[in-house]
Amino acid sequence: MPRRNKIALIGAGNIGGELAALAARSELGDVVLFDIAEKEGVAKGKALDLEQNGAVLGYDAGITGSSSWAEVAGSDVVIITAGVPRKPGMSRDDLLSVNLKIIRNVAENLKKHAPDAFVIVVSNPLDVMVYELKRVTGFAGNKVVGMAGVLDSGRFQLFLAREAGVAVKDVRAMVLGGHGDTMVPVVSYCTINGIPVRQIVPADKLAAIVERTRNGGGEIVKLMGTSAFYAPASAAISMATSYLKDQKRLLPAAAHLQGEYGYNDLYLGVPVVIGAGGVERVVTIELSAEEKAMLDKSAAAVRELIEASKNL
Ligand code: APR
Repeated sequence: MPRRNKIALIGAGNIGGELAALAARSELGDVVLFDIAEKEGVAKGKALDLEQNGAVLGYDAGITGSSSWAEVAGSDVVIITAGVPRKPGMSRDDLLSVNLKIIRNVAENLKKHAPDAFVIVVSNPLDVMVYELKRVTGFAGNKVVGMAGVLDSGRFQLFLAREAGVAVKDVRAMVLGGHGDTMVPVVSYCTINGIPVRQIVPADKLAAIVERTRNGGGEIVKLMGTSAFYAPASAAISMATSYLKDQKRLLPAAAHLQGEYGYNDLYLGVPVVIGAGGVERVVTIELSAEEKAMLDKSAAAVRELIEASKNL
């Protein structure tokens, strides 16, 4: 009998709750919603609500809320949203010192309790958090990845679809680089069902959409006072699904680079293939000179934050 997958969600807040709902609904496996002791009631309450939701909707998944790391043991996938989200006026980088302490604590515990898991980091500032998680755990680079590109690309695709008046599923686009103001929406590879987007969307509109994509997270923070959770959760679940089902999807994600694109020992958003081997490969694509310059700028911004984190 094959055993069920086990998915641990570290952080049972807004994204954690939605992650649990999605994982359970698609019967991806049994779910552990983990949070700190003060929030154990929230984790347990959400877990119970979601199990009851299964009775109504007819899905079958065990969902447990806990503040005990022992419950996380043996997880196949761990998705980390532990940390504080942005408030209006804050950049992702403003979260650095608070979330750095949290990710270090999570990393120490994962090292002890779930050394074989495929780890997806969502906490911000993303690229530094995922770098730190890998550094502290010492896990292999192919088993630690950051979620940013799927979300940023989704935002880019939506804005383009609305502008072009076409179905969003026909728009293919990739956003690379760091998950911050320097992210790189790669217009040269953006198509509407194979048609280069520049043939359909005028240059001025395209420039405005690129800018809106860069501020896509901030736009939502400004509206509701905290950060987005539906699309971030869906993006992380699509990465987890590709790993658990060996789908080998080619997705943009923050991956550990060891010379690819000219960067060494850095986490940055690039196209990767995710399958049963984790991040099975980093796909190197040709970029225009302008796009490569933007990627370099983004890499430098991430590197700067990593350096700053060494003193925190
Ligand atoms: N271990 C586990 N959970 C923790 C820890 C810790 N050491 N520290 C904090 N948490 C929990 C909080 O108690 C809270 O329940 O993380 C949860 C975060 O939930 P929310 O505040 O609702 O934040 P959310 O919107 O889910 O975003 C989480 O993801 O996208 C990023 O910028 C966002 O960094 C933020 C993170």
